[in-house]
Amino acid sequence: MRRHLLSAGDLSRDEAVRVLDTAGELLALADRPIKKLPTLRGRTVVNLFFEDSTRTRISFEAAAKRLSADVINFSAKGSSVSKGESLKDTALTLQAMGADAVVVRHQSSGAPHRLAAAGWIDGSIVNAGDGTHEHPTQALLDAFTLRRHLADGTGDLEGRRITIVGDVLHSRVARSNALLLSTLGAEVTLVAPPTLLPVGVDSWPVTTSYDLDPTLAKADAVMMLRVQRERGAGGGFFPSAREYSRRYGVDARRMGLLPDHALVLHPGPMNRGVEISADVADSTRSVIVEQVTNGVAVRMAVLFLLLSAETTTGTDGSPW
Ligand code: NCD
Repeated sequence: MRRHLLSAGDLSRDEAVRVLDTAGELLALADRPIKKLPTLRGRTVVNLFFEDSTRTRISFEAAAKRLSADVINFSAKGSSVSKGESLKDTALTLQAMGADAVVVRHQSSGAPHRLAAAGWIDGSIVNAGDGTHEHPTQALLDAFTLRRHLADGTGDLEGRRITIVGDVLHSRVARSNALLLSTLGAEVTLVAPPTLLPVGVDSWPVTTSYDLDPTLAKADAVMMLRVQRERGAGGGFFPSAREYSRRYGVDARRMGLLPDHALVLHPGPMNRGVEISADVADSTRSVIVEQVTNGVAVRMAVLFLLLSAETTTGTDGSPW
């Protein structure tokens, strides 16, 4: 039985649609004066963050609280991890405290998979970003946002063209989106300098290009990625920020090449003036702030489907 969310690629189309539809129902809650449901009362969600985060951590916290779960926020800075405590001992401590779900962000690719496979924790593991590997709830919130604007009456993204631009090499957002959006029937194009495309990208369900302008006229949405300097992007990968921006940044001129209905997305945090200009980030086509709102609803749906007792009804007993 699947009880974790580790990779966007683990979700079948029906399962992904179930999460997105559930998120749609939960989004309505955000407009009510009292934004809380009693569904996860008495359950404990631990946010285990070994890496910096603004949006993802507070989003999971808001999601768990809106479902009435108890939330424990653990950040590696200021914890015994800085005294050398291992992932295993940290996990055993959380298990001893009775965590029903552990939302984990870690600088090492595969850390959430290790937690799920090792059996140190009985609860559900949710990958909130592991190294340069995956960030499945970001992909779900991006797909949710795209569906609200671009889907036909059936809520389908079949045949929609999504262009993902920038530092694909270091981006867990790109990989999770490539997997999920193609599962949902969209056509994904990755645009990056050759140095910022990962080895093995030819096995991803995408097409790739080094040239941004020609892809824009056909795009239903462009998703801009941050240049991840903390993971080494910058030095050596391209000549200068100015040149990167000229070739791979979206500015008012490039936005003008998009069809009228096309959207601009960015997972945040943005480097304004590098991959996206301020006027594009703040334009009416930008759904960047809406992505944050939708992220809470999507994470509520994930926690609800993983933790709520009544929902073990999916095919093969999976919560999705
Ligand atoms: C992304 C991440 O941490 O992977 N941000 C996020 O979760 N909203 C992308 C990034 O850091 O550039």
